Amino acid sequence: MNPMILVFLFFFSFFFPNCYDPLDPYGNITVTFDIHQWTNDGYVARVTIQNYHQYRHVDQPGWKIGWTWADNEIILSMSGAFATEQGNCSDFKFQSPHSCKKDPVIVDLGPDASPQNMTDACCRGGLLSSYTINPANSFSFFEVAVGNLGMNASGHAPQDLTLWAPGPGYTCGLLEDVDPTVSLEIGGRRQVQVFRTWKSTCTYSTFLANKTPVCCVSLSTFYNPKITPCPDCSCGCRDADKSKALCISQINQLQGPDFIKSQDIVHCSDHMCPVRVHWHVQSNYVGHWRVKVTVSNYNYKRNYSNWNVVVQHPGFSQKATPYSFNSSVLPSAGFSEKVALFWGISYYNEELLQAGENQVGSVTTQILLEKDSESFTLSNGWALPRRVYFNGENCEMPLPDTFPMLPNAASSSLKPVNNCFFILQILFFLTFTSQLINLLGFDKQLSKFCLSLHFLIHNPLSF
Ligand SMILES: *[C@@H]1O[C@H](CO)[C@@H](O)[C@H](O)[C@H]1NC(C)=O
Ligand SMILES: *[C@@H]1O[C@H](CO)[C@@H](O)[C@H](O)[C@H]1NC(C)=O
Ligand SMILES: *[C@@H]1O[C@H](CO)[C@@H](O)[C@H](O)[C@H]1NC(C)=O
Ligand SMILES: *[C@@H]1O[C@H](CO)[C@@H](O)[C@H](O)[C@H]1NC(C)=O
Ligand SMILES: *[C@@H]1O[C@H](CO)[C@@H](O)[C@H](O)[C@H]1NC(C)=O
Ligand SMILES: *[C@@H]1O[C@H](CO)[C@@H](O)[C@H](O)[C@H]1NC(C)=O
Repeated sequence: MNPMILVFLFFFSFFFPNCYDPLDPYGNITVTFDIHQWTNDGYVARVTIQNYHQYRHVDQPGWKIGWTWADNEIILSMSGAFATEQGNCSDFKFQSPHSCKKDPVIVDLGPDASPQNMTDACCRGGLLSSYTINPANSFSFFEVAVGNLGMNASGHAPQDLTLWAPGPGYTCGLLEDVDPTVSLEIGGRRQVQVFRTWKSTCTYSTFLANKTPVCCVSLSTFYNPKITPCPDCSCGCRDADKSKALCISQINQLQGPDFIKSQDIVHCSDHMCPVRVHWHVQSNYVGHWRVKVTVSNYNYKRNYSNWNVVVQHPGFSQKATPYSFNSSVLPSAGFSEKVALFWGISYYNEELLQAGENQVGSVTTQILLEKDSESFTLSNGWALPRRVYFNGENCEMPLPDTFPMLPNAASSSLKPVNNCFFILQILFFLTFTSQLINLLGFDKQLSKFCLSLHFLIHNPLSF
């Protein structure tokens, strides 16, 4: 690659750190229209929404998808999902089309849908699991019969595909003609293909989602009695009156059809995050070391079903055994520091319950890690995590100069302070640029830019 392009990529990935998730750089949701039947004045298509993210799932209240028809198409009928508005169908006197909107919006049915409206993989209220955790629940299908195409019998792909999964944050590319989807029949001995396939890829950007942080990290170790709490005001600042137990937190919540900023009741704390991940370095043996991870829910009115936690730590390059969580080490995306994904065990702790009167809700596990004698050390905070996500959202980490240190490491304490200063400078710079972008209203251009950056990074040969 041209060195100028490398400089350009480096510069821009620095400027726009949230265009895509570095721990899951190929994560995306693809939307596929497979036309498998032509009709007198249209076609029947099967639409598939496939979540290829390693850990980002589509949570309550589920996905919503919309587009604009290229010609004068209407939706004659649908199964497996429905259009939210019928629109003006007064031109169709002898039919009752499902939707005549130029820009229909489609949502999934619930599990209570009547059987004649169902398709194979539908009707989960728009929830999609992540690809690594539960591939069988990571996609939805629906069938749409399109009419009123007139002379243009083969039609044009819908335009302006928009995905809310849920709420904003996704940018979808054009629906493009690709090789027709092939499926197998007769026990895999015969291949059948659809007539025509249109495909689009939608990518997520935390910057576009513009969410307030929901999570923070606290740390402790057996070698230092100090507990490093979550940074103050990680997700909001606490009321001056410290005697209150119930606090209002500003969070993004989905209500009805739209994504709005709203308020939620959480257990009061100095970090005000609805979720906290605590990492405790518990013991050090000859060939192993052990940590305890606790995920706490500070909400009084919200359970997290199918929660997941992602931890980046170099120690995961060795065998790691969690006792009470399910786990998987993710394919490394060019990092030397491995990334592990943890989630709950069915019927045991897959639900992170809300806080009760006397305590916060929590799930916890110990993890036994094998030691790599080359890299393992307790000094300089090596045993602490580098990055933590809860349900795909970044958790605020304490600054390195507040980490619990080895008691005899006083002489090396100068180094982290310098690092910390450097990190602070970067943080300041990034906050400043993202506010500038907000201020100048560049969001729309940025979303296009994110898409092309995504393309550049994944197709370096195109230079
Ligand atoms: C979307 O995800 C799939 C599966 O991981 C991958 O093959 C594909 O390259 C991704 N697309 C983009 C544009 O990143
Ligand atoms: C479900 O089926 C009923 C009866 O066939 C029909 O009236 C209704 O419009 C269907 N709903 C959807 C969303 O297709
Ligand atoms: C519905 O469409 C018809 C024909 O295109 C038009 O005459 C009528 O005014 C429209 N009605 C409304 C309420 O927009
Ligand atoms: C058919 O498509 C052509 C362009 O390919 C367009 O000019 C024409 O208006 C379309 N006809 C109808 C009836 O939509
Ligand atoms: C959370 O789960 C508990 C126990 O299953 C239940 O009692 C409570 O109503 C749930 N809370 C919400 C907001 O659904
Ligand atoms: C762990 O997750 C895998 C993949 O989802 C699943 O097949 C397995 O049953 C899970 N194990 C437990 C103990 O829940």
